[in-house]
Amino acid sequence: MSGHGPSRPARKATRPYRKPVPDPARRAAFDALTSVSARDAYANLVLPGLLRDRGITGRDAAFATELTYGTLRRRGTLDAVLAACSSRPLAEIDPRVLDMLRMGAYQLLHMRVPAHAGVSATVEVARVALSDGQAKFVNAVLRRITERDEEAWLAEVAPPRERDAVAHLAVRYAHPEWIVRAFADALGDRDGALAETAAALAADDAPGTTHLIARPGQIDRDELAASTGGEPGPWSPYAVHLGGGDPADIAAVRDNRAAVQDEGSQLAALALAAAPLDGADVRWLDLCAGPGGKAGLLGALAAGRGARVDAVEQSEHRADLVRRTVSGLPVTVHTLDGRTVGSDPALPEGGFDRVLVDAPCTGLGALRRRPEARWRRQPADVPSLTKLQRELLQAALRAVRPGGVVAYVVCSPHLAETRVQVADAVRRTGAEVLDVRAALPAGMPDLGAGPAVQLWPHRHGTDAMFVALLRRPVQPSSALPG
Ligand SMILES: C[S@@+](CC[C@H](N)C(=O)[O-])C[C@H]1O[C@@H](n2cnc3c(N)ncnc32)[C@H](O)[C@@H]1O
Repeated sequence: MSGHGPSRPARKATRPYRKPVPDPARRAAFDALTSVSARDAYANLVLPGLLRDRGITGRDAAFATELTYGTLRRRGTLDAVLAACSSRPLAEIDPRVLDMLRMGAYQLLHMRVPAHAGVSATVEVARVALSDGQAKFVNAVLRRITERDEEAWLAEVAPPRERDAVAHLAVRYAHPEWIVRAFADALGDRDGALAETAAALAADDAPGTTHLIARPGQIDRDELAASTGGEPGPWSPYAVHLGGGDPADIAAVRDNRAAVQDEGSQLAALALAAAPLDGADVRWLDLCAGPGGKAGLLGALAAGRGARVDAVEQSEHRADLVRRTVSGLPVTVHTLDGRTVGSDPALPEGGFDRVLVDAPCTGLGALRRRPEARWRRQPADVPSLTKLQRELLQAALRAVRPGGVVAYVVCSPHLAETRVQVADAVRRTGAEVLDVRAALPAGMPDLGAGPAVQLWPHRHGTDAMFVALLRRPVQPSSALPG
């Protein structure tokens, strides 16, 4: 200050109040994230509705989608970085503030958003959605994150690979440790650095392609590929891989001649239909049919082979979805507990030539499709699921006739849900395990030593489906479960 007059006490300059203007895409991502954490919502159901209701389209919608799904997928890694940057333990941070921090961190570490824009645009959303004090805290933590890139943060927060490969991969590839261990066990990955496990984990983050099935007898696969701009799938003769776009816009999907179905799911149903069988081959059963993807394929194949399918589903709502899918096909849908074989006239013991058990499972084989699933699933879920799987597989082996074939299928590589279940069924029933590789399209690589097959996203581009084929012994076994 110049001049000689009496000096006045210095006043701290205050910035004029400016109303925050949150970016609609980031605001939508934040609202989707809080719905997922507070209400156990599914991001891929919640976000499209938010975008539609708020008129967010084009690049903004793509930005909000990547931000939401990426933030959910990378949660464990983002939390490890945030813990290193926050003055407070994460457990003591308000969950909404934590979601905001994760969303900011994801932009800074994974999206090509310039650091200052990522921080200020996130703080702007925080000023509206949270309090001014919380927005200041978000600002401080995010600024610390901007000091390094992702690699530098990983070097600091991930345990060294040579000391603890599972813990290292869990942070680097953003999966809980129990899932890293489950993948490594299923792959039999004996490489100390768990190199193949790393590839399997990375595949859960790869941008997903949508797989369609051209229903046999309804639409030709090449015609579907040509009309959608898609590519024929490499393995299933009915698969089309879509590059992008909304499948609901495809006429053949709308009129039920085609549907969204992972190519691995198609292969599981095809393996059951292709398994060698002596004698009658006219009554097929799908014991866990909802929402009807495999029942639709089995029904279409049965129609071409003069067979009929009974499709069983316990949930009323899901049984209705099956009915919609199989309309016009030789499929009868029953709303029943599949374990009631022998006590329900729809499920006579020994009444079926081929039986599919596509059992409820952890879904660890389809983590790439559901961004929040890897953090929501808990190891404590496994025992109740494996009990149900065991009971359903035993029921299937009672429902199939002697000499008939059961396909046991789960969308998971977890050994407790896969090989352990098959070994248990063999021990109880004396069932013969058939080689699934012979029932799959010729030339499929990396199918392992058999007889069961574990598919993998990083090897086959499919979900990680497990398929085993079991033949009920022709001689009645005293060990058959009653
Ligand atoms: C993995 S999903 C089946 C997917 C289906 N096969 C498809 O391809 O669309 C398992 C289904 O089994 C049903 N389920 C669970 N317990 C059951 C039971 N005891 N009896 C029959 N269905 C059951 C679930 O409601 C769920 O719809």
